Amino acid sequence: MADKNSSAIGYVARNLLLCLFVVTTILFALSCYFVLRSTAHNRFLSSTFPSRPFVSSTDDAIAKAVKRERENCRCDHKDEKSKSPLKVYMYDMDPEFHFGLLDWKPEGKKKKSSVWPDIQKFIPPYPGGLNLQHSIEYWLTLDLLASAYPNTPSANAAKRVYNSTEADVIFVPFFSSLSYNRFSKVNPHQKTSRNKDLQRKLVAFLTAQEEWKRSGGRDHVVLAHHPNSMLDARNKLFPAMFILSDFGRYPPTVANVEKDVIAPYKHVIKTYDNDTSGFDSRPTLLYFQGAIYRKDGGFVRQELFYLLQDEKDVHFSFGSVRNGGVNKASQGMHSSKFCLNIAGDTPSSNRLFDAIASHCVPVIISDEIELPFEDVIDYSEFSVFVRTTDALKENFLVNLIRGISKEEWTRMWNRLKEVEKFYEFHFPSKVDDAVQMIWQAIARKVPSVKMRVHKSRRFSGSASEVEKQSIWSLIPRNFW
Ligand SMILES: *[C@@H]1O[C@H](CO)[C@@H](O)[C@H](O)[C@H]1NC(C)=O
Ligand SMILES: *[C@@H]1O[C@H](CO)[C@@H](O)[C@H](O)[C@H]1NC(C)=O
Repeated sequence: MADKNSSAIGYVARNLLLCLFVVTTILFALSCYFVLRSTAHNRFLSSTFPSRPFVSSTDDAIAKAVKRERENCRCDHKDEKSKSPLKVYMYDMDPEFHFGLLDWKPEGKKKKSSVWPDIQKFIPPYPGGLNLQHSIEYWLTLDLLASAYPNTPSANAAKRVYNSTEADVIFVPFFSSLSYNRFSKVNPHQKTSRNKDLQRKLVAFLTAQEEWKRSGGRDHVVLAHHPNSMLDARNKLFPAMFILSDFGRYPPTVANVEKDVIAPYKHVIKTYDNDTSGFDSRPTLLYFQGAIYRKDGGFVRQELFYLLQDEKDVHFSFGSVRNGGVNKASQGMHSSKFCLNIAGDTPSSNRLFDAIASHCVPVIISDEIELPFEDVIDYSEFSVFVRTTDALKENFLVNLIRGISKEEWTRMWNRLKEVEKFYEFHFPSKVDDAVQMIWQAIARKVPSVKMRVHKSRRFSGSASEVEKQSIWSLIPRNFW
């Protein structure tokens, strides 16, 4: 009996001990969890909001200096100037793809050296008029050619290199917009247009290159600024980085804002040098001159016309700005406070860049628009954005614009005069001009290009290796 009792007591005691052990273990585990959680939380907090009490006076001074620096530097890309130039390899492609489209012919018989014009002696001129809107291909190529000369221009965001393995990006010098503008017609004795033909040749050329195979084209820069350029080749070259005016005619798998670069149009109206106008000396409140489109977003233009036609200080007229109309449009925009930029058959239009060059505050009604360099430029500082659904409400637009004070307008006008240089194309290129800005925008994409190239190489070893992997993956995990 005593034996039985003592064994019972022992049994109970053992169970109690076990219970105690389990409970303390659970408590210990729980407290570990909470301690870890709270420190992780604090770490997160302190990285977002530096905790005030521990800031020493030097930290304060640094914070103040940083703030001062930020205020002085209104454009966030300023630090890029101290960076080394983007290294660009350019294919020595047959002139039929670039300056040959400008009727330039290589001199002499030396093949390699004569693919490019000697731009220190002669620069083949680009056709004027509306062709110029999409002429980025011309300015970028000229800038690259110039970067190789010993007396390189002072603005050197990009430098041509001759060894493609050293390059950050591979530049494809095809003047695709010019090819579309000049050679889309099929002549009687031809089967296809020269534009289509060149695109076919381009795809064949590129996909055969060592450089293309190395990256699957991901580090290639392909120019397609005219919305209708590269219609045939784009679906084959899409791993490349496109330089575009907008994404209106592209499926997001072929082009998107993460991968590609939006470049400005070259404005067609005159720049407003020494602009001493002001709110009161610009009599027109709102200016719009543009083509009327019947398809897609174009109905907005027509609706707005009906809403605005009775306002006496609003200029609204249809008809594109052809050569003769440029002077009149320049005058009109130079004497207007606000300039309308309405989606046409694509989300972007030259009108925005005409407005910036005229220091006429842009009013942007284009829900899908993507703007050049928006990662470093805050367009809300000098433009007014209006949603299409709002713009089509009666009196909404006019009331909104009439409600903008003289002070507010003058602030935006002053900012326009600061940013206009980012949209000017020059040769030789100047500091902060559009050519430099485009190279810098490309340079900002380089880290993500490198990542995509590296990722693409994960499984691109020998085929047998890939096969081995799939065999392993067939065996269920719990088999081991
Ligand atoms: C190009 O650069 C790579 C890496 O720097 C080097 O290995 C290669 O020899 C260079 N090629 C030529 C033709 O100079
Ligand atoms: C603008 O002003 C500058 C300097 O004051 C002058 O050199 C230039 O000719 C002026 N430009 C025009 C178009 O008036």
